[in-house]
Amino acid sequence: MVVLTGAGMSAESGISTFRDAGGLWEKYPVEQVATPEGYAANPKLVIDFYNERRKQLSHVKPNHGHELVAELERYFQVTVVTQNVDNLHERAGSSQVIHLHGELTKVTSSWQPNDPRFIKELTPDEYEVKIGDVADDGSQLRPFIVWFGESVPMIEPAIEHCMEADVFLIIGTSLNVYPAAGLLNYVPDGVPVYLIDPNHVPIASGRQVHVIQKGASEGMEELMKLLLE
Ligand code: APR
Repeated sequence: MVVLTGAGMSAESGISTFRDAGGLWEKYPVEQVATPEGYAANPKLVIDFYNERRKQLSHVKPNHGHELVAELERYFQVTVVTQNVDNLHERAGSSQVIHLHGELTKVTSSWQPNDPRFIKELTPDEYEVKIGDVADDGSQLRPFIVWFGESVPMIEPAIEHCMEADVFLIIGTSLNVYPAAGLLNYVPDGVPVYLIDPNHVPIASGRQVHVIQKGASEGMEELMKLLLE
């Protein structure tokens, strides 16, 4: 089973989504805090923005929806493919999580952000990154986040899992951002697709999708009943 998740997965944990009313991109101009150009123009603003997000991580917990996604592992071999940069799937117990858009708990080199030699996991007491903190190549430490306009290296393993899925589940994403939104196109015909979201999410491919129009926790309860009873 492949589970594709977005910001709505973590909404019930108290983390804002991006595009709903009051979402993050309403409060912070996306081009300032989530593009390489924004980072080049004002690295401190960007570093501080992610310091705030990281600080928030210490105060939030996985919700019941995350817990039920982890529980799916009792019945299926599950790969979670998430657009989220939080670590709530892991903290709920999911053992195989692919982060398409990076991870808040990691930092990397500003010069070679995808070089594994420079990617570093922060301990909670290191969550506040400062201007002047450097990676092993001497460049400023930057958040290990995939910004708009950057390549998405983890899309390749995600595609491979989608091509082998027997069940595909989408939770809490508006499917606005590619390449993540295109993953459904790699799921073989005939594979059942479920979508949990309290709002209407248009599916571009016209593919048959079983929609559970509920929040992540309630929707996962319903899905477990459908799949397991
Ligand atoms: N449970 C499930 N889904 C929810 C809930 C909830 N309680 N509350 C809101 N949602 C849904 C919304 O209806 C919407 O469809 O979550 C979705 C959130 O959509 P976006 O804010 O667009 O977030 P996402 O799709 O994850 O964004 C993709 O865009 O800005 C970038 O890199 C960022 O990873 C992010 C990417």
